[in-house]
Amino acid sequence: MAIFKLQINGRSYEADVEPDTPLLWVLRDSLGLVGTKYGCGIAQCGACTVHVNGNAMRSCVYPVSAVGNAAVTTIEGLAKGDELHPVQQAWDEVDVAQCGYCQAGQIMSATALLNKNPNPSAEEIDNAMNGNICRCGTYHRIREAVALAST
Ligand code: FES
Repeated sequence: MAIFKLQINGRSYEADVEPDTPLLWVLRDSLGLVGTKYGCGIAQCGACTVHVNGNAMRSCVYPVSAVGNAAVTTIEGLAKGDELHPVQQAWDEVDVAQCGYCQAGQIMSATALLNKNPNPSAEEIDNAMNGNICRCGTYHRIREAVALAST
């Protein structure tokens, strides 16, 4: 076990865990940030997506020891107080979610895309989002919401 100091959603946290513990489990089990979901555990579904220094990362295979001083953002860090992030507002407007399980990861991938490319083409949206699996098949609404949130 070792103590890791983490910067998450603009706040400092400490976790006493094994160095190879995936960031996902530190977030969920040590820090109580349970918005990030476990789907497959092998970097194949995208449910666990968070941002590390602004890049979309699969937290299920990202060891806590690799985080260092990087800024981590989770779904809990997107809204500003009561004001939803524009991508969350678009998600709400389009009514994207069906069962909802994959949606935090979908939104984190979408926000990472739009932070880098505020006005992506349909093809760019599909390329950025195609690693996020939705078992309900809400892909058409995901595309629509990402396009709505783009400028
Ligand atoms: Fe990490 Fe599926 S739980 S990609």
